[in-house]
Parts: sequence; structure tokens; C-alpha cells
Amino acid sequence: MSAVRSESTPVLNARNLSLGFGRTTVLTDVDLTLHPQEFTAVVGTSGVGKSTLLRALTGLIAPHDGEVTIPARRADASRAWSMVFQAPRLFPWRRVRANVELGLEGLGLSRAERRRRAMEPLALVGLEEYAGRWPHTLSGGQQQRVGIARALAVRPQVLFMDEPFSALDAITRRRLQQELVELRRRTEAAIVFVTHDIEEAVSLADRVMVLGGQDTGHPAGVIDTVEVGLPLDGRRDHPAFSALVQRVEEMIA
Ligand SMILES: Nc1ncnc2c1ncn2[C@@H]1O[C@H](COP(=O)(O)OP(=O)(O)OP(=O)(O)O)[C@@H](O)[C@H]1O
Ligand SMILES: [Mg+2]
Repeated sequence: MSAVRSESTPVLNARNLSLGFGRTTVLTDVDLTLHPQEFTAVVGTSGVGKSTLLRALTGLIAPHDGEVTIPARRADASRAWSMVFQAPRLFPWRRVRANVELGLEGLGLSRAERRRRAMEPLALVGLEEYAGRWPHTLSGGQQQRVGIARALAVRPQVLFMDEPFSALDAITRRRLQQELVELRRRTEAAIVFVTHDIEEAVSLADRVMVLGGQDTGHPAGVIDTVEVGLPLDGRRDHPAFSALVQRVEEMIA
């Protein structure tokens, strides 16, 4: 499948990125090409520069060096990207559907069309029936699903997820991971998923970008990008799964 993908036009190209703040370089020499429907996980220790990398890929911060380009714009994509954070960041004074409609305002859509485009991703995350609820009446996992629906509603070319499940309990987390496996099949978006959890990364992604190698006075870089190459269904039970997880863990250690 990835062979087919790599023939399609990339939706994002990052070349030779160096990132930092002021005179400090945090991360250097990052190359990354994203194709539609490709799922890239980014792992590395705390402070290595994962969130900074996402911000640079979205254009929220300018790189010290290198460039990020968006070679192709999908015709039906309203936004180049959207982002899901650790906390869902819902507006408490807006009902669930109104929260999902947020990114659709200012696009010149009719009310009915906005509504339709909010209900679609809500159904995708299994919350169709919660459209009229207030955010505080939802569980943490449900709120995070609303955040994911909101990010999908704008039909982004790239969906960035920065530790989206790390604030959830283990059972909810596992459930949302399974949902994401289904969801990634139904969206055109390329997904970039940051996590501390190596098992989570290997269980979800097509490839895992491992950041590290920083030392005093030395910025971090890409240690390796590991192609997972295992079927998505029943991946955790695949005989090669544990070895792959261990391999990535050793890289970081
Ligand atoms: N606005 C900022 N100004 C200065 N330094 C910053 C800023 N934001 C982040 N940093 C520094 O850049 C480095 C990378 O931060 P970043 O938030 O990208 O790490 P991370 O890999 O996402 O960590 P975590 O896993 O804890 O979220 C850290 O050393 C951090 O202190
Ligand atoms: Mg971070």
C-alpha cells in the first residue's frame, strides 16, 4: 500500500529543517514527506522537540533553516492542516455540534452545509447522538473524540495529533487507539501523531520517526525512521510486533 502512496503527490514536504528558539537549536536535519492517508508517528523523550516540529510543519513557527512546502492542495480540503492536542480544548458555552462547526465558520458555507459537515465526523467518532449535549456532560474520552471530530470537519490535508490520548485512562486510551485505526481508513488526511508511548506508535503508524541524540550543546535529530510494515488488523498480536517496539525503545534509550 505504501508503494502506491509514495507515487501520489505529497501533501507536505519538509527539507533539512533546523528548529529552535533564539540562539538555541533544538532539532536539526529533519526531512519528512507526507502523502495522503499516510500515518507517521513521532517519538522521542520529553523536550526533544516533537511539539516544536509539529508547530514548524504547520507554519506556526519559522524554521532556523530548511523549508516546509505544500506541493498539492486537495480540491475538497478546506484547510491545509488541523491539530488535536492532549486536552480537547472545547468551548464550554457551545454545544458539541457547535464546537465541531468552529473551524467551518468563515468558509462561506450555508448553515445547513455547516451542520452536515459537522455531523459527518461526529458520526465517524461515534458521537452523532451527542451533538446537542454540552461538553461538560461528556466523559474525557468523549470530549477528546469531539476534538478529533472538530479537527476532521475542516477536511485537513494533514491531521496533526500531539499526544492526543495521553490524558486518558488506559482502557479509554486503548479504545480510542482502535477507533483511530478505523478512522484512518476513512480519511484522506495524512496523519502525524506524536506520542511518548512506543507501543502506541508502532500499533498505529506506517512509520515511526525516532527523535533523539541530543547532548549538551548538541541539538537532537532524527535517529531513524522505522517502517512498520505489519498489517493494521491484529497488529499487537503479530509475532514481529514486540521486537519492533523493543527496537525503537533501544534507539531512544
Ligand atoms: N517558546 C519556547 N521558547 C524557548 N524554548 C522553547 C519554547 N518552546 C519549547 N522550547 C524548548 O524546546 C525544546 C523542545 O520542546 P518541545 O515542546 O518541542 O518538546 P517535546 O518533545 O514536545 O516534549 P514533551 O514530550 O514534553 O511534550 C525544549 O527544550 C523546550 O524547553
Ligand atoms: Mg510536546
